[in-house]
Amino acid sequence: MKQKDLLYTGKAKSVYRTDAKGKLIVEFRDDITAFDGGKKDVLAKKGSYNAEVSRFIFEYLEEHGVKTHFLSMIDERRMVVRELAMVPLEVIVRNVAAGSIVRNYPFKEGTPLNPPVIVIDYKDDSRHDPMLNDDLIIALGLTTAQELAKIKTVALEINRLLSALLLKQGITLVDFKIEFGRQGRTIYLGDEISMDSMRLWDKKTGASLDKDVYRFNKGDVMATYNNVAGRITGKKSPAQNKR
Ligand code: C5P
Repeated sequence: MKQKDLLYTGKAKSVYRTDAKGKLIVEFRDDITAFDGGKKDVLAKKGSYNAEVSRFIFEYLEEHGVKTHFLSMIDERRMVVRELAMVPLEVIVRNVAAGSIVRNYPFKEGTPLNPPVIVIDYKDDSRHDPMLNDDLIIALGLTTAQELAKIKTVALEINRLLSALLLKQGITLVDFKIEFGRQGRTIYLGDEISMDSMRLWDKKTGASLDKDVYRFNKGDVMATYNNVAGRITGKKSPAQNKR
């Protein structure tokens, strides 16, 4: 398969057309951003850690019956995916109160949320991704009521599967953000699931193991990503072996 022209460039990934019908290439770049792009850096190898964790999680979810856009890896930072018509929603599932819901609502950080809380934001940087509700999603024509119900069911199933996977590695899945898209009438999980899009706490120490290390200068971001990628995928990367 040949990589063709650039279709879309986001804050940390680029999407390319290919010569194969219905297939795109997603490249995970080394760019890292936070606070609506207000903080930006380039961290060597970051893209490959996120690509590896996304691949591992997509394969794990597929094995458990979740339809994802992932098809195969080309190299350590590029994956072949199904071309989807993306639904402009950021679907966030929360198991523990942290981040924006602690800033915006009277939750105490660390409070378990049981059952998990789903928050859906409108993916639009110029509007700072405002929170939606079901009526707004339908009124804006972003999904049908049936599609929205399906998206929520799949999001909760992904949460159940991922929480169990991570717990085995001593990691609490505090929250995560996912995005969906359509190919025909089928809804697929798209985008990525990585240390940039999950909030992960070490079960024993409570230490942040995700982009919060970058957002709030909590330590060595790439040492954290390298270590967490190894824990999640069960593989030690060459960089870890050198330590
Ligand atoms: O900032 P907030 O607490 O709302 O984020 C909830 C979760 O969604 C975090 O894991 C965060 O990394 C992720 N997120 C994301 N992309 C965004 C907003 C949040 O991946 N644009």
